[in-house]
Amino acid sequence: MSDPFPMTVEDAAALLRAGKLCAFPTETVYGLGADATNADAVLSIYETKGRPRFNPLIIHCADLAMAERFASFSPLARRLAESFWPGPLSIVLPLRDGHGLADIATAGLDTVALRVPDHPLALDLLRAADRPLAAPSANPSGKLSPTTAEQVRRGFSGRVPVLDGGPCKRGVESTIVAVDGDRLIQLRAGALAREEIEHRLGVEVERAAEGSAISAPGMLLSHYAPNAHMRLDTTPRPGEAFLAFGAAPDFAGTTRNLSETGDLHEAARNLFSMLHELDATGATTIAVAPIPETGLGEAINDRLRRAAAPR
Ligand code: TXA
Ligand code: MG
Repeated sequence: MSDPFPMTVEDAAALLRAGKLCAFPTETVYGLGADATNADAVLSIYETKGRPRFNPLIIHCADLAMAERFASFSPLARRLAESFWPGPLSIVLPLRDGHGLADIATAGLDTVALRVPDHPLALDLLRAADRPLAAPSANPSGKLSPTTAEQVRRGFSGRVPVLDGGPCKRGVESTIVAVDGDRLIQLRAGALAREEIEHRLGVEVERAAEGSAISAPGMLLSHYAPNAHMRLDTTPRPGEAFLAFGAAPDFAGTTRNLSETGDLHEAARNLFSMLHELDATGATTIAVAPIPETGLGEAINDRLRRAAAPR
């Protein structure tokens, strides 16, 4: 399903300014964008995805100056933004008075998740649209996130226009960090490893406890679900499809290897695409090899556990 009329950044910006949806590439995954200041436009994100209304959206900004119109940045929050933006980090901060964002975009919370994506087309689009863009991952709610324009088109059966920027170089969603006084709390593991933030800032990044007061409302146990069932195991069984990591056992069935050399960056980049591919074979079960729980392994394992969760 290739696109007979590829869009330019200007086409996409015109759609967004007119209150329409448009999917666009970021370094993590494709986002389903809408003007974050237009309540009707944001509402159609929830409707198109079938997303629960209690689940707030990430607001994408062209730069830190734009982000500062919407939230109060403490000195620690500003250090975080200056260290990692543009990049795969969403920062949860208190909303500012008169912020102008649609309430539905933040699901009525008094905080907002902000990020500046590290992708030339996304940044061009934000500048051309000249407004903040609310953008969840561009997939029907609960399904695998898309890392190519083709996956977006298939996911929504061609009903959503897509600005094509090729495959996403990170492949898993942004890390979400809440700034709470002098504490940093990771609400979602993602493409920026916790250790990297700690190393750069010299501040501990805590992992949000299950059910704690500060949390990301969208972190549902069953999520990122392929049609096939998933099973975490080193050894695939006959009839299954296999998602390997590192040295893989001999296996006659359909296999993809996240990274033969055991490189976690490569594995993150391949994760959703390979799950999409294995799912498309029609296998009823996908066996997945274990991944070490360090660095980007934290985000990869988080996605795999949710994909494997009972539905
Ligand atoms: O990489 C990404 O972050 C991608 C690209 C498109 O930027 N976007 C993305 O959005 O993953 P989405 O909607 O799939 O995930 C947003 C997450 C949800 O878990 C939501 O609950 C959380 O962010 N979130 C948004 N606003 C929040 C807030 N104020 N407090 C806590 N969590 C928030
Ligand atoms: Mg998502």
